[in-house]
Amino acid sequence: MHLTILVGTMTGTAELVAEEIQTVLEADGHGADIKLMDGLDSAVFQPDGPYLIVTSTYGQGDVPDNTRALMDSLERSKPDLSKVRYGIFALGDRTYTETFCLGGKQFDAMLRDLGAQRVGEILMHDASAGTMPEEVALDWIPGWLSLCEESLA
Ligand SMILES: Cc1cc2nc3c(=O)[nH]c(=O)nc-3n(C[C@H](O)[C@H](O)[C@H](O)COP(=O)(O)O)c2cc1C
Repeated sequence: MHLTILVGTMTGTAELVAEEIQTVLEADGHGADIKLMDGLDSAVFQPDGPYLIVTSTYGQGDVPDNTRALMDSLERSKPDLSKVRYGIFALGDRTYTETFCLGGKQFDAMLRDLGAQRVGEILMHDASAGTMPEEVALDWIPGWLSLCEESLA
C-alpha cells in the first residue's frame, strides 16, 4: 500500500504525527508520502491510493491556514472523488467545547460531499487529555491500516 498523508498544521504537531505514521508504515513494508497542504489543489487526490488527513483546528473551529488553498480548490472545482478512500486524524483540544476537532470534521464533510469514502472513524486527539498525539497515532494506525487494506481488497 502507498499512503499519502496530507498535513494541516499551524505549529507543527500534526506534522510530527504524520512522521510517526510514516515511520511505522515504512517499517511495515508500505510506502508513505507526507505532503504539507500548503499550496496544494484538488489534483492531489488521485483514485490510486488511500489518503490520511492529519489536521489540527484553530480560531473558532477553523481549518489551519495552510489548508485553505486545498479547501478552496475542492470547493471551487468539486471533483468527483468517488474512487478516493481516506482517513482522518484530527488534532484538537476539548477545552474548545463547541469546536472540538472541527478542522478534521470540516475535511470529512467536504470529502464525503465529493463522494470520497472514509475508512474507519475519525480519530479525535484531545491536547488537554495528557496524551501525546504521536503516541496515540502509534496505537491507532495498525487498526486503521487493516481497515484500509480490507477496503482496497
Ligand atoms: C489559538 C488556538 C485556537 C485553537 N482552537 C481550537 C478549536 O477551536 N478547536 C479545537 O479542537 N482545538 C483548538 N486548538 C487546539 C489545537 O488544534 C491543538 O493544540 C493541536 O494539537 C495543534 O496542532 P498543530 O500544532 O498541528 O497546529 C486551538 C489552539 C490554539 C493555539
